[in-house]
Amino acid sequence: LAESKTKVIKGELVLLLGEESILTRADGKLHTRFGVLDLEKELEWGEEVKTHIGKSFRVAKPYLVDFLMKRGIKRKTQVLYPKDLSLILAYTTPPPDALIVDCGLGSGFSSMFLAHYCPQGKIVAYERDRENIKLALENIKKWGFENIEIKERDIFEGVDERDADLFILDMKGAEDAVKIAKESLKIGGWLAVCSPYVEQMMACVERMRELGFLEMKTVENLVREWDVRKFGHTLPQRWGNIHTVFITIGRRG
Ligand SMILES: C[S@@+](CC[C@H](N)C(=O)[O-])C[C@H]1O[C@@H](n2cnc3c(N)ncnc32)[C@H](O)[C@@H]1O
Repeated sequence: LAESKTKVIKGELVLLLGEESILTRADGKLHTRFGVLDLEKELEWGEEVKTHIGKSFRVAKPYLVDFLMKRGIKRKTQVLYPKDLSLILAYTTPPPDALIVDCGLGSGFSSMFLAHYCPQGKIVAYERDRENIKLALENIKKWGFENIEIKERDIFEGVDERDADLFILDMKGAEDAVKIAKESLKIGGWLAVCSPYVEQMMACVERMRELGFLEMKTVENLVREWDVRKFGHTLPQRWGNIHTVFITIGRRG
């Protein structure tokens, strides 16, 4: 049993860990910019594999972040990035068995991230676009999540969930859905609205105030990487995805 555990199953997702790690399926020949890798042969976790020109990689188990960020999933919509999702989780701390409503599902990125951190809970994702649902379902199945339920519906027709711990609104017109979110939340439960534009954020804040949300705050998570080089030449990176969304958080009073 111990031995079989170390073997990679054909077709399984593997992370080829190297200078530039690659997420791929353990199957066939893989052409990389560092040469060709033979993934046809039986592989073991932790094994070193080399391309035909001698570049080496380690066969590692991918983490969810590899799957989400290294082209494991297909994206058709703008997604919420881990820096924003982790901030929502840190500020709201949903329990492992939380009920979370996520709207819209989009490519499924946020739903998968939340499902990972609430393994005994349930993520109910609403989406009105059938094509997006198809793509998100493909993404979700690839990783094998079982705690995400998708409902094909325009959220303005209402949601079925009550006593939700967390409700995420990441869609155009979110300000008009704040009341629906409120009715779905438990007392003390959290609403997190993600707005790319200041005007949308302000409209949401106004609506949340009118509806009596408490402990409200609006934040932006600016993450800037640093180029740590040889002494005397270290500086922050001057490029990157700086602005993504404003996050407005509040609790149902
Ligand atoms: C920005 S994307 C969501 C991305 C998602 N949070 C992720 O991380 O992958 C917005 C999605 O909301 C959906 N949407 C917009 N308005 C909606 C509505 N009224 N009801 C249901 N879905 C809606 C859109 O079709 C789109 O797929």
